[in-house]
Formats: sequence, C-alpha cells, structure tokens
Amino acid sequence: MPPQSLLDVARAVRENAHVPYSHFKVGAAIRAASGAVYGGCNVENVAYPQGTCAEAGAIAAMVAAGDRVIAEVLVIADCPTPVTPCGGCRQKIAEFAAGDVAVTMCTTDGLSMMMTVAELLPGVFDASQMVPAGGGA
Ligand code: THU
Repeated sequence: MPPQSLLDVARAVRENAHVPYSHFKVGAAIRAASGAVYGGCNVENVAYPQGTCAEAGAIAAMVAAGDRVIAEVLVIADCPTPVTPCGGCRQKIAEFAAGDVAVTMCTTDGLSMMMTVAELLPGVFDASQMVPAGGGA
C-alpha cells in the first residue's frame, strides 16, 4: 500500500473542523517516524480560549497512539496565502520534531510553502534551558 498522503489526510480531516466562531477550518496531518499518519482539525469552544488548533489535535492523536517522533507536518486552510501555525503550535510541534523537520503550509487552492521547524521557531525553548546555570540549589 502506498504511504498515505499528508495532503489527502489534512484535506479530509479539515472538513470535520468545529468552527462556529471563526468559520476558519484548518486541517493538519503529521507523519510520525514510524510511518503512521495522524490528522487533526481545529475544535473551537464558546469559551474562546478553550478552542484547540488543528496541529494540537494531530499531535494529541499521535501521542495517544503511542508515537513520539514527528517526521513531517502539513497544514491546510482556505486562505489567500499558505496558513502558518500559530506560536503555540510551533512550540507544540517542536516538542516532538527536530529542527530540520519540514512543515508544509497549504491553501485549499493549491498554494504551498515549506519551512523547517527551526525556521518557524528560532530560539525555541527546550529542556536544556531548565538546567540551573549555577549547578542547582
Ligand atoms: N488555527 C489552527 O487550527 N491552526 C493554525 O495553524 C492557525 C489557526 C485555528 C484556530 C482557530 O480555530 C481558527 O484557526 C482561527 O484562528
């Protein structure tokens, strides 16, 4: 069986987005290092900050299935220029992806652009910063 296309998965899951407030449907697909593909869509809430992004949904599905390493990400929305992950999602992706992992950003009309995780989130906060500079108290 050929590998599942991230574009097909993201397009399909985007249709299920729950967006009564923004009316902006987003779909995301992640290929894990295992080869498995996970999709997610944005799920908004009447208490606006409780809404979740498509990328967060795909990451949650990946972790729930037991995968931990992101090999590739694709995000798609209906917008004039390729949709870019929000700041919070950049950090969420970086939790499971190396800096050279490709994030492909797409429009439903067929435009796309690719950036690496490191390009999207320079100066990422990571666990190495949680070591006390003075060796600990
Ligand atoms: N959104 C995503 O799901 N992913 C992105 O990359 C950008 C923004 C969602 C959040 C909210 O439901 C809607 O798009 C408008 O911000």
